[in-house]
Amino acid sequence: MSTDFVLGRTPLLPVEAYLSEEWFAREQELIFAPSWICIGVESDAAEPGDYLTAQVGRYGIFVVRGDDRRLRAFHNVCRHRGTQLLRATGSSQTGIVCPYHNWTYSINGDLVSIPQPECFPGLRLEERGLHAASVETWNGLLFVHPEPDPPQNLREWLGGFPDKFGPHRPALLTEVEPDVHEWDANWKIVVENYIDGYHLMHLHATTLDQYDHLAAQTGFLGRHFHFWEPPTPEYRKWLERNGAWRLAHLSAEDDGAYVHMLWPATGLVGLEFAWSLFQVIPLSATRTRIEVRNWSDGGGGGWSRLLSVLGGGGKGKDGSDPLASGDFMQEDRYVCEQQQRAMRSPLFGVGASAERYEDSVRGFQRNVADAMGVSVDA
Ligand code: FES
Ligand SMILES: [Fe+2]
Repeated sequence: MSTDFVLGRTPLLPVEAYLSEEWFAREQELIFAPSWICIGVESDAAEPGDYLTAQVGRYGIFVVRGDDRRLRAFHNVCRHRGTQLLRATGSSQTGIVCPYHNWTYSINGDLVSIPQPECFPGLRLEERGLHAASVETWNGLLFVHPEPDPPQNLREWLGGFPDKFGPHRPALLTEVEPDVHEWDANWKIVVENYIDGYHLMHLHATTLDQYDHLAAQTGFLGRHFHFWEPPTPEYRKWLERNGAWRLAHLSAEDDGAYVHMLWPATGLVGLEFAWSLFQVIPLSATRTRIEVRNWSDGGGGGWSRLLSVLGGGGKGKDGSDPLASGDFMQEDRYVCEQQQRAMRSPLFGVGASAERYEDSVRGFQRNVADAMGVSVDA
């Protein structure tokens, strides 16, 4: 694998990092498995028996609220022959029953019964409880880690990031329509596009023109990326006239776009009218799922109004051309998929990198290289 990283001529990471399934598998082990990953909000598992599932690197994990109202995380793997136990989200008051041979676990993770126990002489139920993982919460957000005893707790892992999170309180809000996408692009291209400050004033010149991109304040705290930018003077005036649209717990001093990216791939977005969780879920080296969950306090109307302000409501004319769609997500999808495709060309390279506005991309790539144990010359 090439380790020829020459900043300014080639990408900081080799193109194999975006194309190779072998590299992808190592990322799952070295980047995703050792991370705390935000998979939802506390209210996803509000009552005993409520559960939600997630894929974290190679690990399927579920979180369930127990009889004692404590949240617990377990590996989504039956202790008989390994079948996945739970799908998506739901509620199970009576326990967790494996669909294959009906081994049954309590919502506290204990194996409580197996059919035909006479076929398993010597099997002790108390030795076959579910494998534990970890779950912790912060600011109403729910994070999991595949290890039962992670080297850092969630607060340690977040480091100084909470100071930059912003004024939003997701727990006070109501979930509105989600938005799910699958793009033909490596997950890092999606993350790099999300944190790239240079494209905002160009690709999104008409779709995200409410904010003053030149005044963005960004940086890394550890490997977590934080971003805030103020409204433009015109948008500020609009907000003054339409302040009632603001989330009830925010005031004019809170205006602006908070667009963070927790390492490695969890976007947290706070705007005047909504808060969103932008989960980047790698599917393969060249395909990525993006689940965007949105919260507001005006019901569905709040989010629809936000889209009409931000341009995501399709104010463009030409639905067949993503670049004329008036939808910033379609614009992002187009450039991400085209960049992924271009990486197969022998001529692919990075000719130059913008100071300040692309520092984020270089910083992220350095973090990837660091986590993967490869050295970069930059
Ligand atoms: S694999 Fe779960 S009961 Fe057999
Ligand atoms: Fe974008």
